[in-house]
Amino acid sequence: MEQELFRLQQEAEEALRQVDDVAQLEAFRVKFLGRKGGLLSGILRQLGTVASQDRPRLGQLANDVKQAVENQFEEKKKLFVTSSIGTASGVMDYSLPGRYLPFGKLHPVTQVMEEICSIFEGLGFAVAEGPDVETDYYNFEALNIPKHHPARDMHDTFYITESILLRTHTSPMQARIMEKQDPPLRYIAPGKVYRCDSDITHTPMFHQVEGFLVDKEVSFADLKGVLTSFTHKMFEKELALRFRPSFFPFTEPSAEVDIACVICGGKGCRVCKRTGWLEILGSGLIDPEVLKMVGYDPDIYSGFAFGLGVERIAMLKYGIDDIRLYYENDLRFLSQF
Ligand code: FA5
Repeated sequence: MEQELFRLQQEAEEALRQVDDVAQLEAFRVKFLGRKGGLLSGILRQLGTVASQDRPRLGQLANDVKQAVENQFEEKKKLFVTSSIGTASGVMDYSLPGRYLPFGKLHPVTQVMEEICSIFEGLGFAVAEGPDVETDYYNFEALNIPKHHPARDMHDTFYITESILLRTHTSPMQARIMEKQDPPLRYIAPGKVYRCDSDITHTPMFHQVEGFLVDKEVSFADLKGVLTSFTHKMFEKELALRFRPSFFPFTEPSAEVDIACVICGGKGCRVCKRTGWLEILGSGLIDPEVLKMVGYDPDIYSGFAFGLGVERIAMLKYGIDDIRLYYENDLRFLSQF
């Protein structure tokens, strides 16, 4: 019987090696491990016929062989179950963990945009949104940029017709809101803008947040106070700000605002073009001509306005040295935020 058990074990191992589909596996189980007609159960039943002094030893051996064959069968079964889940074979292992579905997240630029808006809302600004497809009038004329003005050069964009274009900045929202409401006004207008631009700090579509405040006796000091307070809140530290004299046809005086480059700590790198500073926004006191165009009296009212680049802020906040990374849709990059 001992010989018979060893032979049966070898035969089972060999048979299991030959098994290569679920049907063969089931046939193997019936032949060797089946409770009624299985070869191993058959041998166990013969134990009653062996001499009583050999019975314990042979009984133990028969159980060991049966256990070994069962273990090998279970191992083989696992291979088929994991590779055939949901297939025509119909084998399912309901105890397996579910498939991992990655969670979607807000794009880092959207996250920064929301943060910017919530800081300005905290400073008392209301939020307004306007159209991406804009008229030449609001994008340029109402902002004191008549046809053939050289400032249009910096706003080369995509034209739909001669007088309809993709807006090049969020400043048209100043005129759109001012012509409908009387001061005092305190608004921000976030949105997409478009220009023919592309390098490590420029993309053809980017986001701006326009901000403006109109009231009596508004001065440049108010503008500086609001922007300084915003920057400190946004970057959670007292970063240096630099107001650089500039020109915009719709503000007078005008300033571009730079912040100390957080990528190189102000030492100079390829992002800040070795200057240690990165421009984040344009700003100024609203030009009296613009106020007149919407029917405000510039002798009574004054105001400030600014337009900040959201991607630039996001670059500085997260230490990203190429703006184009935001729009390559590489999930390995985007999922870090
Ligand atoms: C303007 O767009 C003015 N409308 C801003 C303004 C508003 C001035 C109100 C005065 C009063 P500028 O072209 O400098 O200005 O753009 C503003 C900011 O947008 C820049 O400081 C920069 O941060 C960002 N920016 C400009 N061009 C791009 C671009 N192609 N890609 C990414 N960000 C850009």
